[in-house]
Order: sequence, then C-alpha cells, then structure tokens
Amino acid sequence: MLAIGSDHAAFSFKEEIKTYLEEKGIQYKDFGCYSEARTDYPIYAEKVANAVASGECQQGLLCCGTGIGISLAANKVPGIRAAVCSDCYSAAMSRQHNDANILALGARVVGIDLAKSIIDTWLKAEFEGGRHAERVKLISEIEAKHLKTP
Ligand code: RB5
Repeated sequence: MLAIGSDHAAFSFKEEIKTYLEEKGIQYKDFGCYSEARTDYPIYAEKVANAVASGECQQGLLCCGTGIGISLAANKVPGIRAAVCSDCYSAAMSRQHNDANILALGARVVGIDLAKSIIDTWLKAEFEGGRHAERVKLISEIEAKHLKTP
C-alpha cells in the first residue's frame, strides 16, 4: 500500500497521479489534502510519514509545489528517508543506494508525464544493500543519537 499526500499546490497533480495509480492497479491510501483550499504541507507530510514509519503503508508519495517543504517535514519523522526527485536517475538511485521510503515530487517543477515516469522508476527500483546498507545505518545512527533525551 502506497501512502500519498499533498498540499493545495499539488492537489490536482495528486488527483492525476491517483488516476494513474488506479490504471496501473497500484493500491494507495490518500491522506489529503482533499481540495485546493490553502493549507500547510507539514500536516500531510506527517500523516504520510507516520503511515510509513508505523508499517501501515510500505512506501509513500508526497507532493507540494517544489517537493522540498513536504520532504523536509517528512524527514523529521524517525525512520523516514524522503527524497525529492525531478528526474528518473535520482529516483532510481534514491531507492538503490539510499533506500528512500518516500518519494517527493514538485508539482510546479515536473510535468505530469515526467512525474509518472519518475513514479514508475522509483516503484520498480530496489535497494541494493551491501555498502549502501552501512551508509543508511549511519544515517539511522545520527537520528538515534539526536532522539536521545539528555
Ligand atoms: C505553497 O505555496 C508552497 O510553498 C509549497 O507547496 C511547497 O512548495 C513548499 O515547499
């Protein structure tokens, strides 16, 4: 199950992506927003990140105007590795090398057709493990160190 979310800037973009996912038979859960009314991207970043971090959903897809704000917010949730990608190479690498569990897209940055290709690439790519697993572990260790209460 793919958790998806966006702010108002990417609402119609997310709707198009939902149609695409349905055509491809990919199951998703939409955590909002549900209209073009102005809202705040951290709300949806946290909902989707919680769903992924808890295991309710295996992966996540977040969209805002640039993909930046919503990924920054999602990355505050322990266990989340959200990557903003505007090209297929970065999308593949974010899975293969970084084990990204959330893909972030900028609705004002990439066109819908490119977004669909990025999504296909990202969903297909697999984490390579090995030396990359060591590095991802180092990321988790930074997180754990900063989570410790003094
Ligand atoms: C909303 O105007 C915009 O700031 C937001 O969608 C996003 O691009 C933030 O990073």
